[in-house]
Amino acid sequence: MRAFIVYDSVYGNTEKISEAIAEALGPHGNVRLLRAGDVEMPELSPGDLLIAGCPTHAGRPTQSMQVFLDRIPEASLQGIKACAFDTRVSARWVKILGFAAGRIASSLKKRGANPATAPEGYFVTGKEGPLKDGELRRAENWARGIVELDA
Ligand SMILES: Cc1cc2nc3c(=O)[nH]c(=O)nc-3n(C[C@H](O)[C@H](O)[C@H](O)COP(=O)(O)O)c2cc1C
Repeated sequence: MRAFIVYDSVYGNTEKISEAIAEALGPHGNVRLLRAGDVEMPELSPGDLLIAGCPTHAGRPTQSMQVFLDRIPEASLQGIKACAFDTRVSARWVKILGFAAGRIASSLKKRGANPATAPEGYFVTGKEGPLKDGELRRAENWARGIVELDA
């Protein structure tokens, strides 16, 4: 399996989640961790797994992630498995705005990707973090679940 993890992170929390996902997928194939904003869309082949994740900003993906998503050509993700995650705070008001992961997942699906699993969110304790206890472990399990679903 080839997996591409494209992430964005302002304060480093989403980067840690991305690294945990990469580590969990490592034994199952060839994994590349790429930062949105630094990369163009990688060259993907059918069967590849694309995971995209970023912090939630005002209910949406960050600007770098949005630019990355907007640059993916229409229908170019056909045959690609894809899924999305975000980081977020648990304050009640933010729920009204929604979260980034669902929007990323919709964007990927709109371009033809097959959803590999449901979008997931990981919690930070405040704007700058740190991550809540257990979230790295939860991200690793989420990643392993993707491999199991694929088997
Ligand atoms: C400008 C801004 C807007 C934010 N808006 C939201 C939001 O709508 N919902 C939410 O849950 N968290 C929001 N947050 C908190 C981020 O989710 C948090 O900063 C992020 O998860 C930390 O990840 P990072 O360390 O990778 O940047 C916001 C943070 C910033 C800086």
